[in-house]
Amino acid sequence: MPPVRVAVLASGGGTNLQALLDACGPGAPARITRVISNKADAGALERARQAGIPAVVLHDPGDPRELLAALADAELVVLAGYLRLVPAPVVAQFPRRLINIHPALLPAFGGPGMYGRRVHEAVLASGAAQAGATVHYVDEQYDRGPIIAQQTVPVRPDDTPETLAERVLAVEHELLPHVVFDLARRLQEQGDTDEHGG
Ligand code: GRF
Repeated sequence: MPPVRVAVLASGGGTNLQALLDACGPGAPARITRVISNKADAGALERARQAGIPAVVLHDPGDPRELLAALADAELVVLAGYLRLVPAPVVAQFPRRLINIHPALLPAFGGPGMYGRRVHEAVLASGAAQAGATVHYVDEQYDRGPIIAQQTVPVRPDDTPETLAERVLAVEHELLPHVVFDLARRLQEQGDTDEHGG
């Protein structure tokens, strides 16, 4: 069965993209076929180029036509540190095929403006004993779609936003490829079923 074609959207350094690239070796159920960013200087684009994967910069990330064109070949779309809202027509085009990773245990510590260091500051300020990472389906709101998988990380008494971010990110790098491969295998099975008329 051919690997599922995955497009990754990223605005930042792209360590989650890198975790996916590293996981997508021969025999993997998924293959990264395109990396898309709203920022021309995103580190994620450089990682894509290093891996020989087409990298695309969006001129107007709010324009659904431009994004849909960039995603034309994608079967599964992964937001990995993508800081823009995905336009509703794009969400509608990828039902159960558009996912996001967030560095907290949603539904807590999500929503507009809740990204990067702010998430970890809020977790520490809340006194929560557990932090973690969430992968969820994307809908028209920030960090709101149905949750697919979560992994917890204990908060330590001496944690700073930086130390907590680092431990959560390490967990993200395991969780994201795991979920992407799970979904890809499911899509492969569906494709196989469709092909055989069942
Ligand atoms: C990650 O913490 C991810 O959960 C969040 O943005 C960060 C992206 O980091 N959505 P990177 O660009 O993958 O290193």
